[in-house]
Amino acid sequence: MSEEADKAGLTATEKNLIRNTWALVKQDVPGNAYDLFIRFFDENPTYQQLFKSFKNVPKSELRGNKKVLAHGTNVLYAISMLVDNIDDTEVLVEMLTKLGRNHGNRRISYDMFVNLEKTLVGLLADKLGPTVMTQDAVNAWKKTYGVILSVLKPGLESPDAD
Ligand code: HEM
Repeated sequence: MSEEADKAGLTATEKNLIRNTWALVKQDVPGNAYDLFIRFFDENPTYQQLFKSFKNVPKSELRGNKKVLAHGTNVLYAISMLVDNIDDTEVLVEMLTKLGRNHGNRRISYDMFVNLEKTLVGLLADKLGPTVMTQDAVNAWKKTYGVILSVLKPGLESPDAD
């Protein structure tokens, strides 16, 4: 599996683009946590039902709901851990395999992870604007997300394995 991650061979420039753009997202974790989830549910309206703790919260009340914030913060920090370990393929593979298994156990599908890419890259582009989220930065994120998908896929599809 680590072959998948190594094969991707993110360049030093691409890694820096990921680190630098993510550092800006981290400056406003609560705002971006809400925005990520609200955008994800706007683009994929059926997904809110998967989140037990806030599945019944009306769409207009998602922003400001502490359960949404708690979960969104969790997810942003999980992404931060991935970004912080971007130079350590083995650690990344461990984290992503675990993420895949956790989510496979919850019956989250590969397609749902695929759909998160559009939300995440779209959010970064809108928040940071084209002078920061340049085409190179967009490409670096797409490439990175492709690696994330390929590494977590086996765990997602065999969730109960060790
Ligand atoms: C990079 C992508 C993702 C990251 C980093 C991430 C991270 C997390 C984290 C940290 C948790 C809570 C801790 C845990 O129990 O594992 C969680 C739970 C969960 N995630 Fe994700 N996730 C991602 C993608 C997705 C996707 C695409 C879906 C599909 C809709 C999803 C659905 C869920 C659900 C339903 C839960 C359980 C929520 C609850 O407790 O009610 N996640 N995720």
